[in-house]
Amino acid sequence: MSNSARKYLIAGNWKMNLNSAEGAELAKDVVSIVGPQTDVSVCVCPTFTTLEAVSQVVNDSNVSLGAQNMHFESAGAYTGEISAEMLRHLFCKFVILGHSERREYFGESDAIVNQKTLVALAANLKPIVCIGETLEEREAGKVNEVIKTQLEGALVGVTAADADALVVAYEPVWAIGTGKTATPEMAEEVHAEIRSLLASLLGAEAANKVRILYGGSMKPENADDLLAQPNIDGGLIGGAALKATSFAALVQSAQKRSK
Ligand code: PGA
Repeated sequence: MSNSARKYLIAGNWKMNLNSAEGAELAKDVVSIVGPQTDVSVCVCPTFTTLEAVSQVVNDSNVSLGAQNMHFESAGAYTGEISAEMLRHLFCKFVILGHSERREYFGESDAIVNQKTLVALAANLKPIVCIGETLEEREAGKVNEVIKTQLEGALVGVTAADADALVVAYEPVWAIGTGKTATPEMAEEVHAEIRSLLASLLGAEAANKVRILYGGSMKPENADDLLAQPNIDGGLIGGAALKATSFAALVQSAQKRSK
């Protein structure tokens, strides 16, 4: 495969869409698309209320289950929240943390994302830690500064031993749900920077194991070029993950480049 030892990961972030019946239907289609192939890791991340129905559908398939968020406490008086252990109970393997929508609308700071990341790792969940700059920050020439602050803030206490489980998603905020995609070169530049920051934090060997996903209007038309970049190890997909046909095309795009 093109990205050394890293297996591509195509993760669907369904956001606040699809009830449990609709989610189970889509999951059935995804399971049949993925079939027996294991060259690419594939994961779907439904809402909390849809997790259980989808869990039953993807059980014993090559599609993994992920959640879109979790709380860092294990139990107690946290009305409206869900713990890592509850996600494990439904056989979740991944959890998206620090998505820019969580940061923007729910006030999640780097410190909160860090607490969640450590708890997810301890619970055997693979965290997909999201980072990315706004348009304003990009125009002010602050991309590297923002990426460094968010990445270092999220990964305090994470060690080289966590590298296999850790996933980072670079999602430029201005590209999410807007139809505007970073060019493959723009994305690769930031992904390479993330890899080098990871090397300073975890050592070069561990940094090479961490999968770095691109997210932000990734779709069948641009996936080939994005996935061809040496430091792009898959995608975190919003809109295009809600239709089996477009999600299938993204999985196939990664599959073509595997091995
Ligand atoms: P999008 O969303 O693919 O719809 O841009 C990506 C994300 O927010 O994870």
